[in-house]
Amino acid sequence: MKHAHAFPAVTGPLATASAYATGYRDSKKHLHPTANLDDLRNAFGGDLPAKGQPGEQVIADLIHAAEPGLVGNTQPGFLAWVMGSSHTTGVAADWLTSIWGQNAAIYQCSPAAATAEEVACDWVLDILDLPRKASVGITTGATMASFIGLAAARDEVLRRAGHDFSQDGLQGTPRITIFISDDTHVSNLAALRYLGLGNRNIERIPTDDQGRLVIRALADRMALFRGPKIMVATAGHINSGAFDDFHALADLAIQHDAWLHIDAAFGLWARASLSTRAMTTGIDRADSWSTDGHKWLQIPFDSGFAIVKDKDAHRRAMDISASYLSEAPGDGRNATHFNPELSRRARGFTVWATLKALGRDGISDMVHNHCNCASLLAYKLEGTPGIIIHNDVVLNQLVLSFDRGRGAEDTDQMTQAMEAALNADGQHFFRTAVWQGRKVLRVSIISVDTGPLDIQLLARKMKDLWKDICG
Ligand SMILES: Cc1ncc(COP(=O)(O)O)c(C=O)c1O
Repeated sequence: MKHAHAFPAVTGPLATASAYATGYRDSKKHLHPTANLDDLRNAFGGDLPAKGQPGEQVIADLIHAAEPGLVGNTQPGFLAWVMGSSHTTGVAADWLTSIWGQNAAIYQCSPAAATAEEVACDWVLDILDLPRKASVGITTGATMASFIGLAAARDEVLRRAGHDFSQDGLQGTPRITIFISDDTHVSNLAALRYLGLGNRNIERIPTDDQGRLVIRALADRMALFRGPKIMVATAGHINSGAFDDFHALADLAIQHDAWLHIDAAFGLWARASLSTRAMTTGIDRADSWSTDGHKWLQIPFDSGFAIVKDKDAHRRAMDISASYLSEAPGDGRNATHFNPELSRRARGFTVWATLKALGRDGISDMVHNHCNCASLLAYKLEGTPGIIIHNDVVLNQLVLSFDRGRGAEDTDQMTQAMEAALNADGQHFFRTAVWQGRKVLRVSIISVDTGPLDIQLLARKMKDLWKDICG
């Protein structure tokens, strides 16, 4: 197709942003913020000017104010949390998304946005090998994706019990019981709360030392309850990376006519690589899945996917329709059927572009590489006196603590000291957490550029620092 016009030279604020952006990505900027809160308030602060300022100057001011407060989570040395590194092709598509200024509410607002989204959603189902007739909502992240999956779950289990949620709402509903692990990601509890389901509706099920649901305990607890039931399981535990037993869970769901939702914020992508796919066996038997684009897939923030096997249940829970939003014959996808938003960013463009830039093999290789890196780090650290690896390293995650043999309190202090020591030279960004009652150092290998050489250097640094601390 012929372009209607040549690409014009970029000018003004766009040129300033573009020139800076390329340099930012090409150079290694600070991993840790160099400004404190007061500095940042001063830099961003002052009175709102009465008169508008020139765009180039505003963008230059923004760069000047923001850069000292940025975290280098797009760099390979960032290992603190499971955050992707905003693939540059995705970033370019994201710029265009803003330039085009589309509202991806319904097909007629932007046929291009709707169609990019439709194709990208099909690609996601295909890569993940989930039921191709499932419906997909492109969300801001896994929390909103769980919100959508669990909204469909709530309405559907109530419908089966004779309660029409769209008519009767929360008033007079049969009691729904949610079965969820005692080590679930907090976002699932938040999503349930947003849906009117509080702690007294939730049965917390014990987990094993990897954070996996104990199936026997779940089966026993489910047998005690009658009425509508929802189960929430995990693919890729936030700390250990562990996977629940999906066949056992799906069998229980059938036995109890329960809805099975899988929080798979990053773990679902293990399905894209032959080397890790086996851990997701049976996951396709679930009713809904939530996953992120902005984690393992490296799509710029914010990006997630709510996937629901029963498209009608998905639509009943989310649909926003009005005469002024009517569809015409031949229209494509209306995102308002699948998302709790009307006006919304055309997130499909970045998803489409990032998937295309990585390709099926690229995604598989990336997942494989990160898991390989995690195994390599475990291998390099194993046998070092006092460095304890608490998880079975099955994915991209390691959970470490540092133990001088002087008791639990000292180990917590040493783990904290190692976090500070590892961060001190500015080459790495680590954070600790408390897991299963102990302070741990989390290692999440997720940045697109992290490779075996980075890991070998990290292992050497960790061992040297630990030796120094131990004296
Ligand atoms: C297992 C799991 N579930 C849910 C979430 C929430 O995802 P988001 O931050 O994209 O909403 C996370 C984020 O780290 C996660 O690791």
